[in-house]
Amino acid sequence: MSTDTLPDPEKNPARSGGELIRLEQVTKRFGANTVLDHLDFSVDAGKHVTLIGPSGSGKTTILRLLMTLLKPDEGTITVDGQMLFPASDKEVREVRKKIGMVFQQFNLFPNMTVLRNITEAPVTVLGMPKDEAVERAKGLLDMVGLAEKADAHPAQLSGGQQQRVAIARALAMRPQVLLLDEVTSALDPELVAGVLDVLRDIARSTDITMLCVTHEMNFARDISDQVLMFDSGRIIEAGPPEKIFSEPEKDRTREFLSAVL
Ligand SMILES: Nc1ncnc2c1ncn2[C@@H]1O[C@H](COP(=O)(O)OP(=O)(O)OP(=O)(O)O)[C@@H](O)[C@H]1O
Ligand SMILES: [Mg+2]
Repeated sequence: MSTDTLPDPEKNPARSGGELIRLEQVTKRFGANTVLDHLDFSVDAGKHVTLIGPSGSGKTTILRLLMTLLKPDEGTITVDGQMLFPASDKEVREVRKKIGMVFQQFNLFPNMTVLRNITEAPVTVLGMPKDEAVERAKGLLDMVGLAEKADAHPAQLSGGQQQRVAIARALAMRPQVLLLDEVTSALDPELVAGVLDVLRDIARSTDITMLCVTHEMNFARDISDQVLMFDSGRIIEAGPPEKIFSEPEKDRTREFLSAVL
């Protein structure tokens, strides 16, 4: 991987290992349904944290809060020392630039070429010169193994290829944090490995902080520094993957793992 495609470490002051993400007493309700209940957790810069837990336990909600697609009802969220909630629109726009997300559905712009999908936000949001954006996009496409698809449209790509473009598009913004929500679960089984390989590569060779929801437990074991087990909007167990996957303390974690493994 060529280093000029990667986020600039100079722009990543927190990577020295300090706390990058902090949620304090975060509560999120949908009507009468309390989805997150006074949740506290933090993620240190450069770490890879995987969220596991049963359907409906609040994993996606946490990522959506960090993407500011949702607002909490109570609590505070900070990223790199800056408030994300509560915060002014201006503060939110600033902090949002530090965070990239890849969803289960790839959400590429169907009417744009692959290259344009990747250059669009760096040019319009970050004000990056077009030449530089194109240069970096090509480097990123190379990294995800799709250099030859720059001029294709999303509909001409397989699901796995589209997802690798979506990863490149997220990285093009040089995020400090990459949020990944079940990014392989909409893919045909034979396409999963290629996408996970790209993510392993990113985890190994960059200092991007990763917050990842996945049912791919081998992948989680490989890349995670920490695994958080959620149940009903609370973290019921946390620890390094060797611990959580091999000798979990809670019955609920054991049950969940035996159901998914
Ligand atoms: N926009 C919404 N409106 C109402 N309820 C919602 C909304 N989004 C999520 N919920 C509810 O919040 C709870 C947590 O949902 P969330 O999507 O965070 O779960 P999850 O852990 O990601 O589950 P899964 O593993 O199925 O993706 C669920 O009970 C869900 O029904
Ligand atoms: Mg989810």
